Amino acid sequence: MRSMTSNAPAEWAELPPLRWGLVGAGGIARSLTLSLAAVPGDVVAVCARNPERTAAFAEAHGIPTPLTDLDEMLADDSIDIVYVATPHSVHEEPVVAALEAGKSVLCEKPLSHGLTSTLRCIDAARASSSTFMEAMWTRFLPAWRAAESWIEAGDIGEVRTLTASMGFPAPTDPTHRLMDPALAGGALLDIGVYVLALTQRILGGDPEDVQVLWEPTATGVDGQASIGMRWADGRMANLSLSLVSDMEGTAVVSGTEGAVAVPSFHRGEEVHLTRRREVIRTERFPHLVNGLEHQVAAITAAVADGAQEVAGMTWADSIEVAALSQRIRDRMGLRYPFDPPT
Ligand SMILES: NC(=O)c1ccc[n+]([C@@H]2O[C@H](COP(=O)([O-])OP(=O)(O)OC[C@H]3O[C@@H](n4cnc5c(N)ncnc54)[C@H](OP(=O)(O)O)[C@@H]3O)[C@@H](O)[C@H]2O)c1
Repeated sequence: MRSMTSNAPAEWAELPPLRWGLVGAGGIARSLTLSLAAVPGDVVAVCARNPERTAAFAEAHGIPTPLTDLDEMLADDSIDIVYVATPHSVHEEPVVAALEAGKSVLCEKPLSHGLTSTLRCIDAARASSSTFMEAMWTRFLPAWRAAESWIEAGDIGEVRTLTASMGFPAPTDPTHRLMDPALAGGALLDIGVYVLALTQRILGGDPEDVQVLWEPTATGVDGQASIGMRWADGRMANLSLSLVSDMEGTAVVSGTEGAVAVPSFHRGEEVHLTRRREVIRTERFPHLVNGLEHQVAAITAAVADGAQEVAGMTWADSIEVAALSQRIRDRMGLRYPFDPPT
């Protein structure tokens, strides 16, 4: 029997041990596999295209069945949930196939490369009776739950402004998924989805005005972007993205009485309340493994309850975030080779 981390919430021990099948055997597939040290569940199969790399991944993580044929994985009735962890441009096909095969699905962010494709994934979920969620793990972090409870309690007064940045110097290899237009590379889809999901959560998905400045990489995808949004009631968001700069990454929700700040917000482990620029309260929430465990516990509970959606990241949330992202991409005029002709 697998040993669990001792610091996980007691109620997680009551969750059923789901049998997971991974589609993709890269960096985030590894992180999700490690997060199962805190939540009941086992990875029983992994599927990717390259047989040697897939077998090596399976061996490294004690996964009994490495596969290169998705249909073979989906035909395995013992698999409860499929985790789609391929590049964004190739999320839709495994998501739809897994839902049609009756599996629950957790799909990496962004749900897909564009609004139309995102809607096709959600349609497949609606047509199924399975649980389905975009893996917006930030929303399940205790630091953000604390930040939101302080905001709801009125600790910062009336929310007026959101500022958030996220960026790191990405590999410049033109074939890397972050640089390759054919894999829907670029900052907006990879890290912009975090600032947009935060914006949608705090301010809503319906800004009246969206302005964008951006700079392409040598491969033509978006390497840096500054996004400004204004809502009809005067609330504003200022968002910065970069695949060039090593950004500090704090998100600040500011109101008429103070501000809530989460450093390195997408993986936040602490939250500060400030008034007149003085920190008056700080709480820390260290990850139990790597932070993904909170979303894994949430979707495991939903599967156990027979719920199709997970309250922290609903299908409507995914659609609003994808619509915002598409709106920004359309303003940029950024197109991928697989986009249909206009
Ligand atoms: N939640 C987070 O913190 C987080 C962090 C990183 C990434 N992500 C998301 O997770 C997804 C995967 O990112 P990653 O960094 O794990 O990528 P990665 O390390 O490049 O791994 C991608 C995996 O997908 C497989 N794959 C299947 N079809 C592919 C195709 N057409 N082209 C390339 N690879 C393909 C690759 O194996 P084969 O080549 O053998 O098929 C590989 O195992 C992305 O959507 C990304 O946004 C989330």
